[in-house]
Amino acid sequence: MSTRSARVPAYAKLNLGLRILYKRPDGYHELRTVFQTISLADTIDIAFTRRNSTSIRVEGTPEIADNLVEKAARRLTEEFSIKGEIVFHLKKRIPTGAGLGGGSSDAAAVLLSLPALAGKTVPPDRLHAIATELGSDVPFFLHGGTALGLGRGEELYPLPDMPAAQGILVLPNIHSSTVEAYKALSARLITTSAQSKLSNFQADVWRGIGGSNDFEEVVFEQHPQLRELKQRLIRLGASPAAMTGSGSAIFGIFPEADKRAGAARHFPEAGVVPIRFINRSRYQSAFQRALLA
Ligand code: C5P
Repeated sequence: MSTRSARVPAYAKLNLGLRILYKRPDGYHELRTVFQTISLADTIDIAFTRRNSTSIRVEGTPEIADNLVEKAARRLTEEFSIKGEIVFHLKKRIPTGAGLGGGSSDAAAVLLSLPALAGKTVPPDRLHAIATELGSDVPFFLHGGTALGLGRGEELYPLPDMPAAQGILVLPNIHSSTVEAYKALSARLITTSAQSKLSNFQADVWRGIGGSNDFEEVVFEQHPQLRELKQRLIRLGASPAAMTGSGSAIFGIFPEADKRAGAARHFPEAGVVPIRFINRSRYQSAFQRALLA
């Protein structure tokens, strides 16, 4: 039996701005965000061999509970009658509990690649629905680049590419729980503040790269060292510097290359990764190239 295989990237994201408006009747929070894919990426090797039954294996990474790679593959095989032996080899570089969307991006990479390897065409609206089921951030990674996210983050509109930007990601050794961050923030949300958050968010989006993240308030309280990392980035010349998602990673965009080069050594207590923005056409062509090869 012939095996079809591909090596695909799963890029991380930043939230260039993130406003949490209110808790909805369905338990999720209504948000506004600008998503941006960046160069930090996991790598997923996928091998598909047609068979009469289906098996899914994920190798190469320590046991991750509820691995979204396996879940995404399972959903596709069930819904589109894909039968075969599917083996993933996952090289993780995106830390978990960092607000970088690593698990979500892995899941979307599977949704984009497995049907192609199995010779199935999946309508975009079905793919989007499955992505939304898997997690609020997964649909964004079906597209990449710069996008406006509304609702739970699954209602997406493309934004024009940001100007090429480079910076650094500071990765403290802290695992921040999204569910806990929402709980802590939820208790403080009052409906009257939603309107002013919307006004601020609009102003940020018109200006370009905004840096307001509502999760900073609660997560910085719990981990004061994160506030300090953000302030240090600003002192070193980052504009903006902000936490991404529910943390704990803090990013700094450096308009000046020399300041960026010097900044990394000022964070001996954390991991530091240089980053650049990945625009939508680069994001999409990375998948097309990988799947044509
Ligand atoms: O959608 P996802 O599975 O990524 O969400 C994980 C949890 O985060 C949800 O169960 C919910 O508690 C919280 N969440 C939320 N509002 C959102 C997104 C996530 O309350 N917009």
